[in-house]
Amino acid sequence: MVDQKLIDLARETLLKKTNIAVLTGSGISAESGIPTFRGEDGLWKKYSPEEFGTVPGLLLQFAKNPRRIIEFALNLLEVFTKAQPNPGHIALARLEQKYRKNVTIITQNIDDLHEIAGNTNVLKLHGDLFRLRCIKCGHREKIDREYLENYMKKLRDILSSPLKIVKEGKELLPRCPECGGIMRPDVVFFGEALPQKELSLAYIAVDAAEVMLVIGTSGEVYPANTLPYRAKQNGATVIEVNPQRTIFSDMVDIFIEGKAGEVLPRIIP
Ligand code: OAD
Repeated sequence: MVDQKLIDLARETLLKKTNIAVLTGSGISAESGIPTFRGEDGLWKKYSPEEFGTVPGLLLQFAKNPRRIIEFALNLLEVFTKAQPNPGHIALARLEQKYRKNVTIITQNIDDLHEIAGNTNVLKLHGDLFRLRCIKCGHREKIDREYLENYMKKLRDILSSPLKIVKEGKELLPRCPECGGIMRPDVVFFGEALPQKELSLAYIAVDAAEVMLVIGTSGEVYPANTLPYRAKQNGATVIEVNPQRTIFSDMVDIFIEGKAGEVLPRIIP
């Protein structure tokens, strides 16, 4: 049972301040049905990060067994296109819409749930599943759930016949409308650089923050995991919500042990 005093303290702290930075990880979307990376049912428990989390790994796997990669993509897209914001995302949107706080969401997630919930200032440090990027000219194109649902139909059709896998498998990725190059998902795989603009804006938001919320991240991945320490050094009050203690928990001012979807609506009613 979460201590009501901690909830009250977190709420009072947030409501007194104006500039709020929020760092989120896969834990905030867990209650929306998207698996975390390192939990019991985590993505990296099911699929090795070397094979499925890097571009060379994926290309090698595709050459060896295209069906396996197409099924992986399909499974992932099915989960992300069905997911809906949970009460945790919705509470964070209330911080902006009801309480009129100056909120920057800095997320490591590639889903679209913060935006659907209603936060307007979302920095995606690890990219966006709902965006494509041309590997030749760098052109970016926003895509929506409908686009991905149609793409999933195409994947299912290809999977229905071994001949189609061989013939159409190579043309799975769409072409750039600007230069004809191959468009890839605009997400950050292991070993790839983070989008520099988002990272710079994240540092600016953290430096301006009077309070930082850290929600549903294990803190395993650099440089996102430096942000809570940076906020603390700058004098912000740091509040963490997580069902388990993390590398941040001894440093933060308030640690609330619990699920985002249960704790956040109590802090931000
Ligand atoms: P992890 O899987 O490492 O950590 C998920 C965290 O969420 C853990 O601390 C859980 O205890 C917590 N958690 C689980 N359920 C929760 C709930 N209902 N409410 C709140 N917290 C909950 O995922 P991330 O920290 O997001 O990077 O991982 C960071 C990065 O590692 C990802 O963005 C990804 C991955 O490799 C890239 O793909 C580049």
